[in-house]
Amino acid sequence: MADISTSAADKKDKEYFTNVPQEAPGFFLKGSHQYDWGLKNRLSKVFNPKDGRTVMLAFDHGYFQGPTTGLERVDQTILPLEPYADCLMLTRGIQRSVIPASTQKAIALRASGGTSMVSPMEEWEGEIDGKKFKMGRPGFEPLSNESTALTIEEAIRLNACVLAVQVFVGSAYERQSLKNMTDLVDAASRYGIGVMGVVAVGRAMARNAQYFRLATRIMAELGANVVKCYYTEDGFDTITSCCPVPIVIAGGKKLPELDALKMCASAIKEGASGVDMGRNIFQSDAPVAMMQAVRGVVHEGLTADQGYAMYQDLKAKKK
Ligand code: R5P
Repeated sequence: MADISTSAADKKDKEYFTNVPQEAPGFFLKGSHQYDWGLKNRLSKVFNPKDGRTVMLAFDHGYFQGPTTGLERVDQTILPLEPYADCLMLTRGIQRSVIPASTQKAIALRASGGTSMVSPMEEWEGEIDGKKFKMGRPGFEPLSNESTALTIEEAIRLNACVLAVQVFVGSAYERQSLKNMTDLVDAASRYGIGVMGVVAVGRAMARNAQYFRLATRIMAELGANVVKCYYTEDGFDTITSCCPVPIVIAGGKKLPELDALKMCASAIKEGASGVDMGRNIFQSDAPVAMMQAVRGVVHEGLTADQGYAMYQDLKAKKK
């Protein structure tokens, strides 16, 4: 039965087996043990084979919102963070113009786009109590009207390990964004490159476990090798448990550092395979310190409090 079913016929309780890890015989990464050598090797650059986790640094925000706070000069703000990342999530424009080709870090390359923060809304005119007003047509979400934004040859030239594609489940352009993802999976799998489906949450979608279970599972079923979604306070372990491939969490809007570290620690404890975090790192008061603290939580098993102490210590030392 669909997860959203409320019918009387759907009475059987769901069983997520949240305490039973999914086996990956012969390979360290969830759901990846039957891939070919090249794809396994690329995923081993994204995820550390010692613990199966990753710290991805996301700074691709400019692909639809231009010079985001903290990313006005990527050469000044992001390059100092690069040594502490396992993987850089970025656009091809920034990769070519700013990132040294000598980097040893894995590349998660933004592969969808074509819309912006100021994409025109389709307006309609209404009237309440004799007062006329204009607003966007309900259900019309111009940001979700994306296309694929690079060819597979370009991904090979840029030595991408995974391609990141936004998927808007439940939005006006749901079908198109899922087609973008499956087209990229077909192209990328020919060359052993992975695809990371990114759950994009539109205004109409609830950020709860039920929605993320639906969206992440659909992406995995349609071929995504990695899925990125937000953390939920309730039921996050059910999302990771019923998604057969690794889940990494986005950070979302800037939080106080301790809260962001708590979110990372909880996500890891509840089955996330790492983070793909941007604003909570590069918008921090001390981005290099925060980056190292996130790394401590993800890879070294630090608690959020220990990570925060590390952040404060490094911040005080200006490291
Ligand atoms: C947003 O659309 C981008 O794909 C970001 O990579 C993603 O949202 C993660 O960044 P943040 O941690 O700032 O949410």
